[in-house]
Amino acid sequence: MRALVIISLLGCAFGEDRVFSWSGGNDSQVDANENACLTDVVSCGCCLMKKQIWKLEMFFNMTLNELQRNLERAHSVLNNIRASRSAFSVALTDTRLCIGPNREDSVVKYSSVFVNLGDGYSTDTGAFVAPRSGIYSLALTVYSDAGAPGATLAACARLRLNGRTIASPSENNLQDQEDSASAVLAVQLHAGDRVDVALPAGCFLCDNNNHYNTFTGFLLYTTD
Ligand SMILES: *[C@@H]1O[C@H](CO)[C@@H](O)[C@H](O)[C@H]1NC(C)=O
Ligand SMILES: *[C@@H]1O[C@H](CO)[C@@H](O)[C@H](O)[C@H]1NC(C)=O
Repeated sequence: MRALVIISLLGCAFGEDRVFSWSGGNDSQVDANENACLTDVVSCGCCLMKKQIWKLEMFFNMTLNELQRNLERAHSVLNNIRASRSAFSVALTDTRLCIGPNREDSVVKYSSVFVNLGDGYSTDTGAFVAPRSGIYSLALTVYSDAGAPGATLAACARLRLNGRTIASPSENNLQDQEDSASAVLAVQLHAGDRVDVALPAGCFLCDNNNHYNTFTGFLLYTTD
């Protein structure tokens, strides 16, 4: 009996792994190996070490998987932000041009485009259509030149949201020949909302490549 135990110990000391399989990796395998502690002390030590390593590997794998899931979520949020970028800035014209005064209100169509990220602004309609809901910054500057001192000046326009006026910069005095007015605001827009600039009857705007008349908007952050 004693001789049998010594032979068995020698077997493990020489690295002959006859008694237990080292290729196992699951719980029942490890538990089975743990029973070896009752019969073979050396192999038992090896198996307990193997079990600890396996537990560490399991923990490492779970942590890594969790990190990978978080990274995927972060990528998806970032892609969403990139896809919803929206900014436009346009000026009335690049060459000398006055529009108005007209008998009826009309939409100002800005033809000189500085930037139109997301293609929300249309030079055909003069309107910006919000691609998605969010807080938008809008800015409008109007300028006009009466043509001669003392001549009637009417630099005025209306910033409209879905046809309703939300700001109305205006300069109508007769004391100087040219004037400008501005409005800058942050508004909540819903996807599909339409923002444009109306030229009211009697108002007229003049510009050249100095870009006195500009209309700008950009998404600060989404709210959907
Ligand atoms: C774990 O190992 C045992 C013993 O080798 C085996 O019978 C069982 O199918 C294994 N379980 C899994 C989930 O691989
Ligand atoms: C840990 O992940 C590696 C690579 O996917 C795999 O080969 C190994 O079996 C895993 N270990 C455990 C303990 O789940």
